[in-house]
Amino acid sequence: MTTTDETVTFPQNRSCPYHPPTAYDPLREDGPLSRVTLWDGREVWLVTGHPTARALLADQRLSTDSTRPDFPIPVERAQALRSRRRTALLGWDDPEHNVQRRMLIPSFSLKRTDGMRPRIQATVDRLLDSMEAAGPPAELVSAFALPVPSIVICDLLGVPYEDHDFFEEQSRRLLRGPTGDDIEDALARLEGYIGDLIDGKRARPGEGVLDDLVARQAREGGPDREELVQLATILLVAGHETTANMISLGTYTLLRHPERMAQLRADPALLPTAVEELLRFLSIADGMLRVAREDVEIDGAVIRAGDGVVFSTSLINRDGSVYADPDALDWERTARHHVAFGFGIHQCLGQNLARAELEIALGTLLRRLPGLRLAAAAEEIPFKPGDTIQGMLELPVTW
Ligand code: HEM
Repeated sequence: MTTTDETVTFPQNRSCPYHPPTAYDPLREDGPLSRVTLWDGREVWLVTGHPTARALLADQRLSTDSTRPDFPIPVERAQALRSRRRTALLGWDDPEHNVQRRMLIPSFSLKRTDGMRPRIQATVDRLLDSMEAAGPPAELVSAFALPVPSIVICDLLGVPYEDHDFFEEQSRRLLRGPTGDDIEDALARLEGYIGDLIDGKRARPGEGVLDDLVARQAREGGPDREELVQLATILLVAGHETTANMISLGTYTLLRHPERMAQLRADPALLPTAVEELLRFLSIADGMLRVAREDVEIDGAVIRAGDGVVFSTSLINRDGSVYADPDALDWERTARHHVAFGFGIHQCLGQNLARAELEIALGTLLRRLPGLRLAAAAEEIPFKPGDTIQGMLELPVTW
């Protein structure tokens, strides 16, 4: 536990898009639990040790209910929304969370997502055909990294991809909008759109996960319209934003590690391990949030009821007691136990889908474009600030 008087502020911007902020360096030495200060001056616990993180993420005395008065708010702009509204699934504790999650598990099973691989491959090939026909160069975020998961999640949920400009823009505002008002407006627009879509599905059922949920509601009762809208919103937003960031930042990272990229090209069987290692290394969802419902004693510290607890995914995934030489990108290690998808009851519902998309997108990109390289100075390519999901804002490439 840290003993210094000056606590580090959380979150901060990364100085390199694929490494944790250097400003967190003192926390790496202090782990597994430190105190950090949020934007509003509040001190919370920051978990940086891997075993401690897994123990606490599995501990039901910690809550994800953002309407609890002491729930930590990492950025000022999220304040209004967090205290008023709960995100479906992620904002609920068990047993309510479990009821929502059970409905969705079959749609995101390994079997179901493996069955989607041929369609994911076809989407990836089609996007690379267009990119090759139009280029080089290309801006990889808009030409590839964003459309791949966007098309895939539309296909799975039964959302028309023609509307992608609209929902991508609202998702971007929801996660990175400049003010609380902007974020609330984006959420209202997204939910309005999804509400209309769900009403349409009642009249004309289709084949997506949302159609299944609507049919199930008609058959057995279950989630009401509002709950369905909230579930669909998180699936649509989480389903494309995160994976898009992994594809863009993953590609940038590979281009900055030419030997690792060459190994992958020479031996594509390494891909599943490489994807796992990239998930660990990049830790794009860097800051999971909880509040203690009761006192919790751990590692000689007492987390008091009402204390905020934040999990620094990037530091947990670089805990030197679990990962040797943690700052190196290494296809030889077994990174499987990383917490890039979280851990415990809220562990990412879409992880099988994300893995399939990443293997196919990155593998095909490397195979089809052997001359792929950055089309601008690496240090000048803009990436996302630290208070949101990490990724590239743009990725100019040529081949
Ligand atoms: C590489 C891409 C992705 C990453 C890094 C990622 C990361 C995460 C993390 C860290 C959590 C846990 C948050 C917490 O415990 O506070 C989470 C939960 C979740 N993710 Fe993902 N995710 C990804 C892709 C997806 C996809 C493709 C979907 C598809 C719909 C998805 C849907 C969800 C949902 C619904 C939850 C909440 C689960 C629950 O509360 O039970 N994610 N994700």
